[in-house]
Amino acid sequence: MGFEGTIMAIKAQPGVMDIALYKGGKSHVDGIENVLKLSSNENPFGASDAAKDALVRASHELHRYPSTDHAALRRAIADVWHLDAERIICGNGSGEVLMMIAQAYAGPGDEVLFTEHGFAMYPIYANANGATPVVVKERERVVDVDALLAACTENTKIVYIANPANPTGTMIGEADVARLADGIPQGAILVLDGAYAEYVEGYDAGKALVESRDNVIMTRTFSKIYGLGGLRIGYGYAPQPIIDVLMRVRGPFNLSAPALVAAEAAMRDAAHTAKCRAENTKQRDWMARALAEMGLPSDTSTANFILARFASAEEALACNDYLMSQGILLRYVGGYGLPNCLRITVGDEASCRRVVHAIGQFKRGEV
Ligand SMILES: Cc1ncc(COP(=O)(O)O)c(C=O)c1O
Repeated sequence: MGFEGTIMAIKAQPGVMDIALYKGGKSHVDGIENVLKLSSNENPFGASDAAKDALVRASHELHRYPSTDHAALRRAIADVWHLDAERIICGNGSGEVLMMIAQAYAGPGDEVLFTEHGFAMYPIYANANGATPVVVKERERVVDVDALLAACTENTKIVYIANPANPTGTMIGEADVARLADGIPQGAILVLDGAYAEYVEGYDAGKALVESRDNVIMTRTFSKIYGLGGLRIGYGYAPQPIIDVLMRVRGPFNLSAPALVAAEAAMRDAAHTAKCRAENTKQRDWMARALAEMGLPSDTSTANFILARFASAEEALACNDYLMSQGILLRYVGGYGLPNCLRITVGDEASCRRVVHAIGQFKRGEV
């Protein structure tokens, strides 16, 4: 067999070639220096100083392998959020935990449910493991529990929802989440993706549901409010039997030593987290009102971004292009089934004013 024959014989697992490559938010514009990146829901205040100091200290120990049980980080998470440390699993971003759940529980013949405007990685987790992705309608950009329950079959193994959701920013209440958990078929798991949970004052991200049921997992991340997206750290909280399964598919050194100590310091810096939450709420509410006054409505966002609705896809794209020419990067979310929308990350005060000013210029035709 020649070289070509060998290539033809080497085949990816079923589903892998159905994956559309994930596109992250843009971070550069050719020829523009003062770029304002509001395309990836990053924290405009960066990480806590305590996390940065921990990272510098860790640089002296780079020749050492990291801990495999992440005990100190799990302890910090458990202390701050009043969780059982034994039931926490840490991942290389919450994305890795979400993927491990699919790896462990979904394969060929199994169905993985998520909603039409849900996070773009959910179908990738399904396809990467040979399972069948099933898209379920939302109701006016809000997760529809009845539609999800109606879409369940005996093959349903995982239901992923983000609460708050990305890119809509909307949330459903605890009673609805509980109804979903209680209504999915026996043997299926509800995954509550809480990437933006810390932005919601007083929200437990699903802790009570995880602790009172055997079929709910919650995931959370250090990439958003903790400002550590570049280090890749997230975690899951689940009933013990599920943790025992997930620990078997997790790589022993999946988190680097610098990431572990930085995350631990970030988790314990409650003042920085509180400041980021308060500032986000203030700027988000100001920006939503300012946009509405220009004729750009948005659903009430509970996260660190706003989904602005334009009159048409053409207008949204034209505004996106204009902003890009001004060095402001937003996320066009046509690929999320929202062709007339732009997602705008909430920045600091100056950034919010800059983006609102530029959108105002566009709306008034001063371009
Ligand atoms: C809804 C949602 N879930 C999960 C993630 C994954 O985050 P990470 O892997 O950085 O923890 C993101 C990132 O944007 C997200 O928006």
